[in-house]
This record gives sequence, structure tokens and C-alpha cells, in this order.
Amino acid sequence: MRINGTVSSRLKDLGAELRQGVSLTEKTSLGIGGSTDEILLRRYESIPEVMRLLADESIPHRFLGGGTNVLIADGELPYVVLHLPASQSGMSVEGNAAYVDASADLGGMVTFCAKRDLGGMEGLIGVPGSVGGALRMNAGAYGTSIGPHVREIELYRAASGELETLRGSDIRFDYRHTSFAPEDVMLRVKLELPRRPFKEILASIKVCNEKRRASQPLNQKSAGCIFKNPPGGSAGRMIDDLGLKGYRVGDAMVSDRHANFFVNAGNASCSDMLKLIDDVRERVRCAYGVQLENEVIVWQN
Ligand code: EPU
Repeated sequence: MRINGTVSSRLKDLGAELRQGVSLTEKTSLGIGGSTDEILLRRYESIPEVMRLLADESIPHRFLGGGTNVLIADGELPYVVLHLPASQSGMSVEGNAAYVDASADLGGMVTFCAKRDLGGMEGLIGVPGSVGGALRMNAGAYGTSIGPHVREIELYRAASGELETLRGSDIRFDYRHTSFAPEDVMLRVKLELPRRPFKEILASIKVCNEKRRASQPLNQKSAGCIFKNPPGGSAGRMIDDLGLKGYRVGDAMVSDRHANFFVNAGNASCSDMLKLIDDVRERVRCAYGVQLENEVIVWQN
């Protein structure tokens, strides 16, 4: 979708930068996605006005965070994407509280806090993506998830069309799911973290990194786990037990390292990946009677 000159100059007045004809293939960890215009939201205060402008002009839009947990359709996309560029001064610590911009890198945040003797997030170290994406999905790994540490979130709230501050207790954080509306935009978070000496945190981080390196295809293009684990089960083990490692549709392939990671082994298209997802889901349903739910967010047009 392309934005016209009038809207473009109004966006500029609001401190938002327009980038035309951006390929989302370059902006997603799967290396899959079509093209569209991108709006960089450089001034938080003007986000409500940018949203009103897009609504008034009937311009469909979606918010793209770190691009590490999303599968985007191919070709020219019928919506523009909004993105928060990472800021220089996005993190600070005061006592046991960490204040972090949603655009910050999640792993960078874990290390920043660790160096200031704040732990509790060690398991999240290798999870790729932004802090905002981690908040929205309640990212987790190795027994840690971000939700329980959240004390306050500043966000653009789609329901009111305004910037709001919510308390952590106002939000439901479940397994890879939260009570945020899909159009809410995370801006900044206050986390409360347990104090722990840097050396100890570093030792735990190393253990998590090693476990991850041993079991996940970290050097391949993926969106992490494709399916949520069913209650009490493991999607990866189920798919593996069906002998599907290495199974492919075009260049979309079930990782031969971890069967719940589907990788782009070359030039996979979105439709290849969707076919692979549906095919594997169906095989699991037939074999185990379990309907796997997507963990990856799919943006079909
Ligand atoms: N397993 C297999 N074959 C496989 C993969 C796994 O037999 O190909 C077995 C493992 O041996 C283990 C069990 O299945 O006994 C669980 O595997 P693993 O420890 O790798 O954890 P997982 O449940 O597959 C979850 C998260 C990961 C997170 C890890 C570590 C989900 C969907 N996945 O994976 O998160 O990194 O635990 O805590 O909850 C993600 O969210 O994208 C993600 C990768």
C-alpha cells in the first residue's frame, strides 16, 4: 500500500517518518514478507494523532515490532506498517526497577539489567525480538516469562485512541497470550526485578545459551516455535515423533534440529510456509487428536 503526498507531509508534521516501498523480507527473521510503505513513529506523543490521520484517510495499518514472530504474506501488502525505531536512551535502572522502551532489543535489556545486578530474566536471553513484542506475547523460555515482572506499561490504547499507563495487575499474562488488544502499541515498561550479583546472572545466562544452542536452529531463518505447546504436551516432540524433521514444502522446512521450528531454507514464500504449517497441523491432528494452535502471528492479507 502506498501513501500519497498529502498524507506524507502531514505525517512529517507529526514527527513520523515515511519510508516508501519497504521489503518486509528484510525485516523479519523468517526472511518472508511482501512490500509496503513503512511509518516510523519517532514521537510517542503524536501517535494518537498519527492513528487518527490513518483512520480519517482510511489507510489500513499494522504494527511491526522486531519481526521475529510473524509470518507475512508475499507481494504488495494492502496495509502500511508502523514501527517504533530503537532509541539511544531506551533503558535505565532505579533500585529494583528497570525502565525500558518497547523498541529495545529483549536480549540487550536482559544484559543491561544483569550488569546492574538485576536478574530474573535470564531465560529470555536468547529470545529474539523487541521488548514490546515480548510484552504482547508474554515471551518466555526456561521457566521465565516477562509478564510477572511488569509493574507499569505505557502504551497507545486502541480502545481510547490515547496514550495510557496501565498497571501490571491490570493486564492478564497467560502462556504466550495477553489481554492487550491487537491494535494496542506498547511504548515503555517498568519492570521490577530481583537483585542478584552479575556473576550469578551471567552463569545462568550461559546455561540457557548452551541449552538453546544445543536444541534450536539459531543460525537459520525462523520465527522460533511455530505452534504453542498443547496443555501438558510438546509440539516439537510430537512432530519429531512423526518423523517430520526435514519435511518441506518448497523452501519451507521443518528444522532438522528442533521440530517446532520451521525454517526458510532458501527462498520460501509465505504460501509455502502456510502449506507446511497446515500440513503438519493436520498430521498431528490425525496421529494424536490434538489441534495445534499457531504461536507465530500470521498476517494474511
Ligand atoms: N523435543 C523432541 N524433538 C524436537 C524438539 C523437542 O523430542 O525436535 C523434546 C525435547 O527433547 C524435550 C521436549 O520435547 O523433551 C521439549 O522441548 P524443548 O525443551 O526444546 O522445549 P519446547 O517446549 O519445544 C519451549 C518454548 C520455546 C523455548 C523452550 C525453552 C513453546 C512453544 N516453545 O519449547 O520457545 O525456547 O521451551 O524454554 O512454548 C518460542 O516461543 O518461539 C520458543 C522457541
